[in-house]
Amino acid sequence: MTHTSQSLLALAASAAYVAAAPSLESVCTPAYMRDALPADDFYDGITLDTTSVTASPVTNVSVMNSVDYPDSEFDYCNVSFTYTHNGRNDQVYLALWLLSPDNFQSRYLSTGGGGYAINSGSSTLPSGIINGAVSGETDGGFGGLSVSFNDVTLLANGTVDWQNVFMFGYQAQHELATLSKQLTRQFYNMIDSTKLYSYYQGCSEGGREGWSQIQRYENEFDGVITGAPALRWAHQQVQHLYSNLVEQTLDYYPPPCELTKIMNETITACDPLDGKTDGVIARSDLCQLQFNLSSIVGKSYSCAASSSMGGAPGGGSSSSSSSTTPAQNGTVSAKRRGSRQADH
Ligand SMILES: *[C@@H]1O[C@H](CO)[C@@H](O)[C@H](O)[C@H]1NC(C)=O
Ligand SMILES: *[C@@H]1O[C@H](CO)[C@@H](O)[C@H](O)[C@H]1NC(C)=O
Ligand SMILES: *[C@@H]1O[C@H](CO)[C@@H](O)[C@H](O)[C@H]1NC(C)=O
Ligand SMILES: *[C@@H]1O[C@H](CO)[C@@H](O)[C@H](O)[C@H]1NC(C)=O
Ligand SMILES: *[C@@H]1O[C@H](CO)[C@@H](O)[C@H](O)[C@H]1NC(C)=O
Repeated sequence: MTHTSQSLLALAASAAYVAAAPSLESVCTPAYMRDALPADDFYDGITLDTTSVTASPVTNVSVMNSVDYPDSEFDYCNVSFTYTHNGRNDQVYLALWLLSPDNFQSRYLSTGGGGYAINSGSSTLPSGIINGAVSGETDGGFGGLSVSFNDVTLLANGTVDWQNVFMFGYQAQHELATLSKQLTRQFYNMIDSTKLYSYYQGCSEGGREGWSQIQRYENEFDGVITGAPALRWAHQQVQHLYSNLVEQTLDYYPPPCELTKIMNETITACDPLDGKTDGVIARSDLCQLQFNLSSIVGKSYSCAASSSMGGAPGGGSSSSSSSTTPAQNGTVSAKRRGSRQADH
């Protein structure tokens, strides 16, 4: 055997050795994960709690009927750990799902929350795993994955907890991505020259979280999905209250069917103004200019009685959680801002 062919054989043997990636079970342990944690000096001002690390394999998970990803089955390593900001007495909890080394495709995915929550529990994490990415989420330091921001906005004395506001606003997502990407590199022994592709996925509040990162950290992600971003909270919260306030001021609470009729008529009139009749009003400015809302006044509406069942989908729910809406009929009224006295 020539020297060259011996080397080739050795090369083939080592390639075969490299290809045999370790099993999920063999690497999904707290000890292995502690070794993969970012070093103490990796992120200024943050100290990881190495004693907090949990890691255990979860196998044969099956997920279905999500709007975020296709139905799938997979295994993952369920990981969590906490860190603190030096000089503050806080504890931030990160949850990560890691794939077995042979399914890893050099990707990382940060996920966000919805409503007043900075994360979506376990509902968005499969997105990463299904696409060859490690998935991560944070509790923002609010006291666990099920604690929402609105539980923790104020200090005991009623003043704003600015630390929590900044964490919720953008800081926690930045720390999540930065720490998780480093952990991912170390867990899979990625060499420095290998690119870790990183992504973000979130909708509503999660969409806003995504924007908070794009706007501040241009190199943080290679791609983002920021669905229906709930931007501009100050405007938005006022909008949430506005219609209720108008109803209370007018002392007129339109039946849901009347509001649906107004919505339907508005869509019919304004949908085409953007050049495409697709059920979406994209030119609300033209709608406001061209659509005469008063033209709906006096039109009749009618909705059949309906009932909605609470409890488990697919029936079998108890009657206590079902609700019934009676049939509604009428004509769209002229009630509008400033019309209270005139109409009474
Ligand atoms: C998971 O699924 C695989 C393949 O279907 C099967 O061989 C294995 O026994 C399952 N493991 C558990 C823990 O159910
Ligand atoms: C994942 O780990 C966390 C933290 O230990 C635990 O609370 C959770 O129940 C685990 N999830 C599964 C599916 O095992
Ligand atoms: C409220 O509590 C915080 C934290 O203890 C403190 O820093 C702040 O000065 C307090 N503010 C007022 C108005 O008492
Ligand atoms: C509103 O439009 C939807 C879709 O066309 C229709 O099913 C519904 O009956 C309409 N409701 C009213 C109150 O006009
Ligand atoms: C809007 O419609 C109402 C009712 O049809 C009508 O009285 C009014 O003149 C219209 N306003 C404009 C600006 O066309």
